[in-house]
Amino acid sequence: MDKLQIEGGVPLNGKIRISGAKNAALPIIAASLLTEEPVNISNSPHLHDVTTMIELLACLGVDVTLNEFMEVEIAARRLENYRAPYELVKTMRASFLVLGPLLARFGEAEVSLPGGCAIGSRPVDQHLKGLEAMGAEITVTEGYVCAKTSGRLVGCDIHMDLVTVGGTQNLMMAATLASGTTRLFNAACEPEIVDLADFLNALGAKVSGQGTSTIEIVGVPRLHGGAHTIMPDRVEAGTYLVAAAVTGGRVHLRDVAPKTLGAVLDKLQQAGAELTVGENWIELDMGGRRAKAVDIETSPYPGFPTDMQAQFMTLNALADGTSTITENIFENRFMHVHEMKRLGAEIELHGQSMAVVHGVDQLKAAPVMATDLRASSSLVLAALAAVGTTTIDRIYHIDRGYETIEEKLGSMGAKVRRVS
Ligand code: EPZ
Repeated sequence: MDKLQIEGGVPLNGKIRISGAKNAALPIIAASLLTEEPVNISNSPHLHDVTTMIELLACLGVDVTLNEFMEVEIAARRLENYRAPYELVKTMRASFLVLGPLLARFGEAEVSLPGGCAIGSRPVDQHLKGLEAMGAEITVTEGYVCAKTSGRLVGCDIHMDLVTVGGTQNLMMAATLASGTTRLFNAACEPEIVDLADFLNALGAKVSGQGTSTIEIVGVPRLHGGAHTIMPDRVEAGTYLVAAAVTGGRVHLRDVAPKTLGAVLDKLQQAGAELTVGENWIELDMGGRRAKAVDIETSPYPGFPTDMQAQFMTLNALADGTSTITENIFENRFMHVHEMKRLGAEIELHGQSMAVVHGVDQLKAAPVMATDLRASSSLVLAALAAVGTTTIDRIYHIDRGYETIEEKLGSMGAKVRRVS
């Protein structure tokens, strides 16, 4: 099992390119099932999760290839089956996003329930409630969601009980081929929802309101082929900005979308970072200063993203002052706290959703273990700042969401290497 070895204490200094967004690529690849015509997706990140989604489409019988420009070319002309097996879905819950497209295009789908993961139980009740409202017959047997519809799904108003990114995506995709109009109320506003809607509209769908809490989809009989460029990954960008902040360094990110990082940039400024922002670039200069502690409260977009909570735990662990971090989205997203305490962080957990962080002058290297994707990135950040050489185990979690992480860090002066 691969590990990362990081010798800390080096202020990062350099320029890197931000990759395409994992959380936009996954639903967009799933949405390619909605048309029989060829689809070309560029700027997709080369990550394990993207490979898993491509594998899933291939096992459904879809022609998927990576061309010489590393663009994903998909043609879902006819499928051999409509079943997303547990073996794949359990490794990546975003596989559940094939449910809506399969049901809308083929009238049937058998998708394994994704089950829980390290950060929470992660139910899919809102996905199923919405699809039933559109006329799907849904049964859950032996861990599989079996969905059928005789004829097309029927558009309708759907009031979602809570804000769910995946639920909004599954229902938006399903509604594109429904007869009539669907309106999703209390929909998620994340930029990845907007990117998916833009892709669907490029294929001839009629989606509007994306980015707001009410999304309207006017159903059409079929979608045609098209091309799309995946938006930049705002979480990868935020992670590298925090890396520069915790090491007192300076980083210039290009091919990034600053508008999708408003809450994160605001907190970095509060922490004392000097930020310069262009159309598609961001520069952070910490100037050797120690960060100031900042209180964090996660909430749906445009609030502070839960996917940046662990990274700011590291920033606060080393900051001047005491801060509170409240996690409102997932019920178990403090797994990194136990590992960070091994590095000398002073963090008190209050129940499942709040942590009080007392900043310390320095962290000390120790062997630690990654537990989930964003927790592992917070350990990388801690190791970059810690005194000594830290070894992080189970870094397959990192490879799910950070493309060529050691190369990008290394290009900014970090002393990092992957060891088996
Ligand atoms: C997406 O997960 C992202 N994953 C997550 O990023 C991200 O943390 C999350 O949205 C929140 O922004 C992808 O896009 C692939 P949700 P998703 O449905 O769609 C509850 C990362 O690190 N809920 O918005 O699964 C759920 O339990 C990953 O890149 C229900 O109760 O998240 C959670 O508490 C981690 N019923 C909350 O809603 C439902 O039917 C938000 O979940 C659906 C969700």
